[in-house]
Amino acid sequence: MTTATTPSAKTAADPLALNDVDHVRFFVGNAKQAAFFYAHTFGFNISQYADLTTGCRTDASYLLTQGNIRLLLTTGLSADHPAQQEVLRYGDGVKDVAFDVEDAEAAYERALANGGTSAYEPVTLKDDRGTVTMAGIQGAGRVVHSFVSRTGEYALSNVKKGGTFAPNFAHMGTLGVNEMNKARPCGLMYVDHAVINVELGKMNHWVDWYENVLEFTMFKHFDDKDISTEYSALMSKVMASGNHLIKMPINEPAEGKKKSQIQEYLEWHDMTPGIQHLALRTDDALASVAELRHRGVDFLSLPDTYYELVWDRVNSKLIEHGHEPVKEDHQKIRDLGILIDADDEGYLLQLFTKPLQDRPTLFFEIIARRGSQSFGKGNFKALFEALELEQQRRGNL
Ligand code: FE2
Repeated sequence: MTTATTPSAKTAADPLALNDVDHVRFFVGNAKQAAFFYAHTFGFNISQYADLTTGCRTDASYLLTQGNIRLLLTTGLSADHPAQQEVLRYGDGVKDVAFDVEDAEAAYERALANGGTSAYEPVTLKDDRGTVTMAGIQGAGRVVHSFVSRTGEYALSNVKKGGTFAPNFAHMGTLGVNEMNKARPCGLMYVDHAVINVELGKMNHWVDWYENVLEFTMFKHFDDKDISTEYSALMSKVMASGNHLIKMPINEPAEGKKKSQIQEYLEWHDMTPGIQHLALRTDDALASVAELRHRGVDFLSLPDTYYELVWDRVNSKLIEHGHEPVKEDHQKIRDLGILIDADDEGYLLQLFTKPLQDRPTLFFEIIARRGSQSFGKGNFKALFEALELEQQRRGNL
């Protein structure tokens, strides 16, 4: 039996101590339109924007917020802009998982001293209200990790209360979709984990990278023993920041019965790694998934047989380890098509969307935890079967 690692005691003097996820930046083909997609389907508030009208000549960005999630959708305004270059190759996707730290420059220097490679040098945006300093480290493939430090009115605590995100950002006026989202919240609270797909044979390289460069640690949990199965066709190790603020599972393809989903993802990215999914945490999976379904979110569908087997599998495991069985209404879980998995510590409810764009690339997971700190290994077989059906329909099997 293993237990969750104890978060290490990071001090304020530690430049790589992460305060929060500052934002997750997407590169998209059309930020203005994408903002409305994520607002309508996932309940994000379209909070602020920066574009030509606010003095931003090179790109346009929209800040979407929900709970403690901040998505920043960015489009380049010229063909040679890096965002346009990436969208041309890969379509829309996650570019940057950015961390709020005390001192972005110090964090950046420390990561470089740890063997990291610069994605971009420190830059400070400032006006009379305060400063936002950002510096980027190059991660796996397209992935960048920015460090962000903020002063004055731009402090993250102010941004969380609706304050301006950065110089050149303007607040949206009244929008019907924002009013609707207030009246019908989707209940998404924060990024539980962000998963990276890497090439065959590269998982340990990136595990070492997160340990050495960002000073993450391997997150021990109950389902890390035999995660590679003939059904999952992937191998996965989970890295966690020192304070467990964020977990970053790293997947590499494994030989399965059919082409793995990891392999399919890589092929659609010129064989370069990237973020496969963001898991968004809710406390009430049933209410969240019901609302998301109502809005038209396209979730993976599961074989009916899943629910014939799941209660025995999950509830017997919970009882075996002295926990209460799944308390949510079993029929409602089935009606909503939610997945359940259990380990020694408790259970979780999760559900995966289909790809969020035309290419079979980035997707979201909706997750609620009832004690379990793992990632749903028991669902891999069921998920594999469901995904395989999807792959078959796309002609990629
Ligand atoms: Fe996940």
